[in-house]
Amino acid sequence: MAELLVAPSILSADFARLGQEVAAVTEAGADWIHVDVMDGHFVPNLTLGPVVVAALRPHTELTLDVHLMIEPVDPYVAAFAEAGADIITVHAEATRHLDRTLQCVRDAGVRVGVALNPATPPEVLGYVLDRLDLVLVMSVNPGFGGQRFIPAVLDKVVRLREMIGDRPISIEMDGGLNPDTIGAAVGAGIDVAVAGSAVFGTPDYAANIAALRP
Ligand code: DX5
Ligand code: ZN
Repeated sequence: MAELLVAPSILSADFARLGQEVAAVTEAGADWIHVDVMDGHFVPNLTLGPVVVAALRPHTELTLDVHLMIEPVDPYVAAFAEAGADIITVHAEATRHLDRTLQCVRDAGVRVGVALNPATPPEVLGYVLDRLDLVLVMSVNPGFGGQRFIPAVLDKVVRLREMIGDRPISIEMDGGLNPDTIGAAVGAGIDVAVAGSAVFGTPDYAANIAALRP
């Protein structure tokens, strides 16, 4: 199995100093930068839009992993791609026509991800797997950082791995990951770990990122 990638979520960073925070976690050994976009409609919180992604782009050469928690999503995909996103992940629950939305992301020229809320079964992806580069398994209900990990989703990773077979699709997990929960997530078979509070919560980002690697 390939090495675990760690994707700090800037949701827990200091928003007044976002550029420096992104540069700091890049320097501290992050693999990707995870950007949480919330609309106050699909999820009960508001964060940022494409102008912020464009502003962050010069501060890192790492993959910008943009997690869209917005509904509707199709009208905004191109703007996030133009802003510099490398991966755009949409929620299966936030679109009525998932196949069309995935084509929209593919047409924007970026890597294609789908996120699944904790209660959403992996089988919703059965007929779109060939369109995907990434599946994001939410291990909290989306909307806020610092929530408690939901262990029931571990089983979903195992099932997804069977469904994916030898397709080149990464499995990412997001929510409540910290040194206490990361072992179970890696054991279940994730490739990418998103972590917000566990990375930005205390000042030594390099140590915090290292503590997430098995
Ligand atoms: C939650 C976001 C997460 C969040 C994770 O809706 O998608 O990326 O920042 O935060 P922690 O790691 O603190 O649970
Ligand atoms: Zn996220």
